[in-house]
Amino acid sequence: MPFPQDRLRRLRATAGFRRMARETRLSPDHLIAPFFVVEGHNERQPIGSMPGQYRLSVDQLIQEAGEVYALGVPAILLFGIPATKDEIGSEAWAPDGIVPRALRAVKERLPDLVVITDVCVDEYTTHGHCGMVQDGRILNDETLGCLQKMALSHARAGSDMVAPSDMMDGRVAAIRLALDGEGFASVPIMAYAAKFASCLYAPFREAADSRPAFGDRQSYQMDPANVREALREIEADIQEGADIVMVKPALPYLDVIHAARQTVRHPIAAYQVSGEYSMIKAAAQQGWLDERLAMVETLLAIRRAGADLILTYYAKDAARALRE
Ligand code: PBG
Repeated sequence: MPFPQDRLRRLRATAGFRRMARETRLSPDHLIAPFFVVEGHNERQPIGSMPGQYRLSVDQLIQEAGEVYALGVPAILLFGIPATKDEIGSEAWAPDGIVPRALRAVKERLPDLVVITDVCVDEYTTHGHCGMVQDGRILNDETLGCLQKMALSHARAGSDMVAPSDMMDGRVAAIRLALDGEGFASVPIMAYAAKFASCLYAPFREAADSRPAFGDRQSYQMDPANVREALREIEADIQEGADIVMVKPALPYLDVIHAARQTVRHPIAAYQVSGEYSMIKAAAQQGWLDERLAMVETLLAIRRAGADLILTYYAKDAARALRE
């Protein structure tokens, strides 16, 4: 029915109508809060390119995790920053490494908070790549054993879910096999399935001190131009046993999230990455954008595209804003 019978503005006229006509919901249930854990006590090291985010020692992490949980956010994601790095990233699977220790401490205090752990060696290697390196090349199959050991060390320390972010082929199957073989058949895998080689990870690499010492990540992370290939990555991870598949980054890749939503029945997560966070922060600091509106609008857009879950450094602020 065309105008003047049909007037789309009728249902926009009041806040009540707008609430009733709203098609997409955003709640703290949809959010996952990432944290960086460091050695030490009482450490709250500000991350220059991510205002409002800190590298936290375990005691501080417990406090922050408690706050986000109290605000209704069901899950956190842990990235470990070890005291020492080496060529193969051996701290990544140390039984008493930074992540296993953080896990035990958080799970003891907050048993119902879902603690997800990042599985990838780049924060632990001197070269900063997500795999084993030989003659300047990033090796695939040689990396899988390290990822298995890392996932197992997390599961043994109480990780609720492991999240491989390395983009090696076959790593979901390898991790599933390792977990099942050691009695962790019930620990799910959230796979960074369609992870693009994005410039938007730059602030994270400052936070985690994981900038590649040579080259870039284009031989393992995806070409930003490709959506069909992203669907193949997602299908492969599902066939290998992923329980949740992720698209990353989020806002510039809404079409990928949407395309995945059309074909995938698994839960889909999207990662609003460090650069997405920092862009909003920077514009807000300049007074060019209203931070809270930009935060809620971008998160809602990611949900509208088809993401069930959103990993975001805004988790705490968003959960608070959604309460008000
Ligand atoms: C790799 C990893 C990265 C991010 C999550 N896991 C960095 C990279 O691939 O270079 C980026 C997350 C962000 O930018 O917020 N372990």
